[in-house]
Amino acid sequence: MERELALEFVRVTESAAVACGRWMGRGDKIAADQAAVDAMRAAFDIVSISGKVVIGEGEMDEAPMLYIGEEVGHGGPAVDIAVDPLEGTNLVAKGLPGAIAVLAIAPRGHLLHAPDMYMDKIAVGPMAKGKIDINAPVTENLKAVAAALNRSVEDVTVVILDRPRHAAIIKEARDAGARIKLISDGDVSPAINAAIEGTGVHMLLGIGGAPEGVLAAAAVKCLGGDMQGRLWPEGDDDIKRAKAMGITDINKVFTLDELVQGDDVIFAATAITQGDLLNGVRYFGGGARTHSLVMRGTTGTVRFVDAIHKFDKKPMLIKRV
Ligand code: FBP
Repeated sequence: MERELALEFVRVTESAAVACGRWMGRGDKIAADQAAVDAMRAAFDIVSISGKVVIGEGEMDEAPMLYIGEEVGHGGPAVDIAVDPLEGTNLVAKGLPGAIAVLAIAPRGHLLHAPDMYMDKIAVGPMAKGKIDINAPVTENLKAVAAALNRSVEDVTVVILDRPRHAAIIKEARDAGARIKLISDGDVSPAINAAIEGTGVHMLLGIGGAPEGVLAAAAVKCLGGDMQGRLWPEGDDDIKRAKAMGITDINKVFTLDELVQGDDVIFAATAITQGDLLNGVRYFGGGARTHSLVMRGTTGTVRFVDAIHKFDKKPMLIKRV
């Protein structure tokens, strides 16, 4: 994919973030999500791609926009698109940190078509590449990552979603001596942080959304880190849905290269609320300032885009609550 596309995709996540950020703290996650979806969908119209949404807002009958299978863009290369216009709906509704507008693009067939169900995940940065095993106990993974980072387990920080289903892994990580950051929502951002040196995060562990797993994998791929995922069905319906999407072995461990094939992937994210890595949207009289991350797997270039948007010149960005 042409490198010029990277900037076009940042515009798409910026639009979603500017529209969605207006809903911060207003207690309405549905409206916040809708604002992000509407803005992202409109922004895709001017992007030169023949895009097909493979991870999106749901099936055609349940999502009017950015549904799985929807074609977006006009002309340009045939690509598959994974989107989450608002990753962290509760975070925006409550005004908490860590919500992002995010997307990943790869050539047709290169992104795992993950069903909308849970996935168990482990993600680390480049120094720990090849050292993780989702089938191994948490303690072993912690020791392997600590050794790869040339430090003790006590100096490794793991991010885990604060959920009852994670009680056992939280206990094991605590017993092993690791530092733990429990988060209320949003497990894509910490996977990115784990793969960037200096963020103070070294590993993401635990069960979150499978679609979010593919988005995180696209970021980790661009950053040279490592990740594994395994679907975590809650019942027969999930198993049937996975089979319908071509995943016959429900226990299969997906490697990073199976979550995202090849290096030709572009990842873009714009912060909606304040994050560890990116500043949230800040509005001022007549405009807004956004902070984004855009990366290409082919070159490994990581760009931080600090942008100021003037509403009088970009009237499509002025949407108030
Ligand atoms: P939404 O943006 O759809 O609310 O998802 C937020 C999120 O926290 C994801 O980051 C995570 O993968 C998933 O939900 C975890 O699901 P659950 O809240 O059911 O544990």
